[in-house]
Amino acid sequence: MKIVTTIQEMQQQMKACRSQGKTVGFVPTMGYLHEGHITLLKEARKDNDVVVLSVFVNPLQFGPNEDFDRYPRDIARDEKMAKEAGVDILFYPSVEEMYPRPLSVQVIVKERVDVLCGKSRPGHFDGVATVLTKLFHIVMPTRAYFGMKDAQQVAVVDGLIRDFNFPIELVAVPTVREADGLAKSSRNVYLSPEERKEAPALYRALQKAQEAIKNGEREPAAIRDLVIDYIQTNTNGVIDYVEVYSYPELKPVAPLSGKIIIAIAVRFTNARLIDNITVDVESSY
Ligand code: PAF
Repeated sequence: MKIVTTIQEMQQQMKACRSQGKTVGFVPTMGYLHEGHITLLKEARKDNDVVVLSVFVNPLQFGPNEDFDRYPRDIARDEKMAKEAGVDILFYPSVEEMYPRPLSVQVIVKERVDVLCGKSRPGHFDGVATVLTKLFHIVMPTRAYFGMKDAQQVAVVDGLIRDFNFPIELVAVPTVREADGLAKSSRNVYLSPEERKEAPALYRALQKAQEAIKNGEREPAAIRDLVIDYIQTNTNGVIDYVEVYSYPELKPVAPLSGKIIIAIAVRFTNARLIDNITVDVESSY
């Protein structure tokens, strides 16, 4: 595995790959790799000749009250895990390398951001879209891999790729789950034993909603109520949101039709869990 820290060297490496006609799978991350990232890397490994992983904690996507400095970092561990996952090139630039001077141009995301988690993180997706624009230009991948656990980020990247005509295939990888259905997350360890037992009810609530759609329910409010009721009956968590939108547009849709997302965020004592499910309404019978 090659470790590259400069943009110039990365561009040279990628130019060489392209001139040899190789396909490139790209997994952008902020490091501190976990199982979710490894799943993305494995998918990229299956589909492409060359796998590129970037590790860059992007200051632009942190709000003033979100602690950029305290974001966990462990590049030695990331290197080891990347090597084991079959990564060919690890791109690990410094902040100075990526942002040598204040930006004179920034990407502003105008849609798909004022809902779900984006509502409480103004500017976050502008930072994500800006760094991805730079990374896509530097790496010029054939395919880019993102986890559906963060479905709103996938929706924003879909808009970025379409609107800016990046010749990149977006691969949205399904959420990895524990045997009992709980979406894997580094935050699950903060659940108390009792909360850990309750937490799979989040996914069960989403499955109940899917079942209701399959049985003909088309009112988003009824789906929302069903999910809220199931979570409140089966957990002590406090619901942050339960939202139903078209996907990936993230617009209200009533009656339900096309592809939709049901997304939830629930607070437990020391952990806020998110999960979602996408449903093709017409083909859910
Ligand atoms: O999901 C992440 O880790 C980040 O938002 C990303 C896509 C690497 C951009 O910094």
